[in-house]
Amino acid sequence: MSVGYGPVRALRRVSLDVPDGTVVAVLGGNGAGKSTLLRAVSRTLSFQGGALTSGDIHFEGTRVDGLAPDRVVAAGISQVPEGRRVFARMTVADNLRAGALGSTGTRAAKADALRRVHELFPVLAERGTQRAGLLSGGEQQMLAVGRALMASPRLLLLDEPSLGLAPLMAARIADTIREINAQGTSVLLVEQNAALALRLASRAYVLDVGEVALSGPADELAASDEVRRRYLGVVDEDAAADAPRGLGALPTLPRWEAGR
Ligand SMILES: Nc1ncnc2c1ncn2[C@@H]1O[C@H](COP(=O)(O)OP(=O)(O)OP(=O)(O)O)[C@@H](O)[C@H]1O
Ligand SMILES: [Mg+2]
Repeated sequence: MSVGYGPVRALRRVSLDVPDGTVVAVLGGNGAGKSTLLRAVSRTLSFQGGALTSGDIHFEGTRVDGLAPDRVVAAGISQVPEGRRVFARMTVADNLRAGALGSTGTRAAKADALRRVHELFPVLAERGTQRAGLLSGGEQQMLAVGRALMASPRLLLLDEPSLGLAPLMAARIADTIREINAQGTSVLLVEQNAALALRLASRAYVLDVGEVALSGPADELAASDEVRRRYLGVVDEDAAADAPRGLGALPTLPRWEAGR
């Protein structure tokens, strides 16, 4: 697919496959087009002034790139958007209820989905009557994931679920993603945290300014020098030893920006 926002070309001929039942990760620096890719699948590009300019998207043998966003949810694809956007003034329970709106499931299926979400995130059951805006950042991320799960998706689109979370909370979210996948939901995961994403995923793609720069099995990418240097913050020790000391020679934090 290719995607543009007016004159801005955000994705160029990107091709990607999520085999049934797997976790696939998309890595890449800021502005690489990761969120754009997820928006193209969930059909929410138009809310951001964007559009698919060429290409097509298929899910379980059906073409979905002509559907309205609610039909995409009904087809079995739910997205957790970037920045854990919950409805801050609504209660936790109402946020979860909102997630089931697009689903075509029966009342019993929705009750099952709610039970499953409460099992994954007990805190959401405890805080059901509280306003969502009062939850901590990590709890809001759980709510955002829980809300997406209420539609019982077979493919979950996750946009940087660990962003801004303390390591312990990020690890909890990672465990939950593993659990969601083990229960049969495929996952397309966009992450700033390449180390976390490559541990969860079986395959990964690296986007660079709107194009696929690298792709392959996650363990191979995790071992590749290019990925280690650019995205995992592993420095070349010889080069580091040769570098001049003093200002400007501070160690680089293992962030996405490293090496860009
Ligand atoms: N609504 C928009 N209007 C115009 N350009 C946009 C819009 N959203 C994104 N872009 C541009 O499209 C490109 C891809 O952006 P995108 O948000 O998909 O990147 P990203 O990989 O998710 O980055 P980040 O890691 O910072 O979230 C960037 O050049 C960005 O400036
Ligand atoms: Mg993004």
